[in-house]
Amino acid sequence: MRHIMVTGGAGFIGSNFVRYMLHAYPEYVLLVYDKLTYAGRLENLEDVAKSYADRYVFVKGDICDKDLVEETIRTHQIDTIINFAAETHVDRSLMAPGSFIQTDVYGTYVLLEAAREFDLERYHQISTDEVYGQVLEGHSREDDPLAPRSPYAASKASGDLMVLAYHESWGLPVTITRGSNNIGPYQYPEKVVALFATNAIDDAPLPVYGDGQQMRDYQHVLDHCTGIDAVLHKGGLGEIYNVGTGSEMTNIAMTKILLATLGKPESLIRYVEDRPGHDRRYALDVSKLRALGWDNAYACDVAIEKTARWYAQNEAWWRPIKSGELYQTYYAKQYAQRLEA
Ligand code: NAD
Ligand code: DAU
Repeated sequence: MRHIMVTGGAGFIGSNFVRYMLHAYPEYVLLVYDKLTYAGRLENLEDVAKSYADRYVFVKGDICDKDLVEETIRTHQIDTIINFAAETHVDRSLMAPGSFIQTDVYGTYVLLEAAREFDLERYHQISTDEVYGQVLEGHSREDDPLAPRSPYAASKASGDLMVLAYHESWGLPVTITRGSNNIGPYQYPEKVVALFATNAIDDAPLPVYGDGQQMRDYQHVLDHCTGIDAVLHKGGLGEIYNVGTGSEMTNIAMTKILLATLGKPESLIRYVEDRPGHDRRYALDVSKLRALGWDNAYACDVAIEKTARWYAQNEAWWRPIKSGELYQTYYAKQYAQRLEA
């Protein structure tokens, strides 16, 4: 695999993955294909464009645009697609589910058709632990039934099923990874850790949904990247692999670690109205990926501390986002009433 098209590569995980792969594989060419929605930012790849000018290409495009997807594959002799492109925020999927179905389901279908048409060596789908639904006890294994509960999770589950259908029907060489909550550099400050870190730095309230006892497996994005790398190079075709630390913590515990790291008081915590249909717990069994020789480098608490410090040291990245009209409008819609109440 030498010419890899990374769809959604200008977003949070995609940009970290591109940086990681260019460094790890000096013989690989990486092409980022991204629509640049509110979450996709060329700033996330500024250093990459400078350091790897000979092996990094950017194409602005929508994964739903069949003609441009095909033209890009043909022109750049792509042999592998890794699909990160998606609408990704659960709260936004509760406000407006349409774009989630369009990109996460229809867009996946367009990429699969192109992968089939051009006889690609690999199609890899980036999926999520949310497809299993909430897991009140035990840990989700890859063959567990899917039970998504939000429009975001349902659209991702549909994408997964379509990927598997292309493998069964036409032998398309696919793999899927299902990651837990990623945290780290360049995450749009709508997801909880980036939001809370940047709010805390500004001494603004941290809106904890419900009782804050929901559990998540907060993994560092670099561990997710090494997990995807392991599956790309050692994973079985048609197989699914969970990627996470394999342990969980409550949101309130995460919030307190973050505040302690930044030296901010717990009085910033505000318990606000819960997210509708809020999944109580996600937990992954990651033994299948570990059997490929992969291991995570960071425990959840270390990942949270490391992430909080990055936001403290990189205000120039997130301040323009948070002060922009688009973000302010979203923040007011999602939080103004909650925080007033
Ligand atoms: P993100 O929202 O930061 O980035 C998504 C990227 O996709 C953006 O660059 C955006 O411009 C691009 N995009 C959106 N619609 C597009 C379209 N129609 N055509 C082309 N590009 C489009 O998301 P992220 O957190 O980096 O997530 C990346 C992938 O990982 C997603 O598939 C998501 O479901 C999955 N995932 C995320 C997490 C997490 O915790 N963030 C965990 C597990 C899996
Ligand atoms: O589990 C993987 C998923 O993790 C990814 O597939 C999604 O793309 C990603 O957005 C993330 O989904 P979550 O809904 O778990 O992440 P979020 O950061 O939105 O919320 C994490 C937890 O924090 C969740 O229990 C809700 C809670 N929360 C979130 C926000 C934004 C709050 O308490 N307050 C908030 O303001």
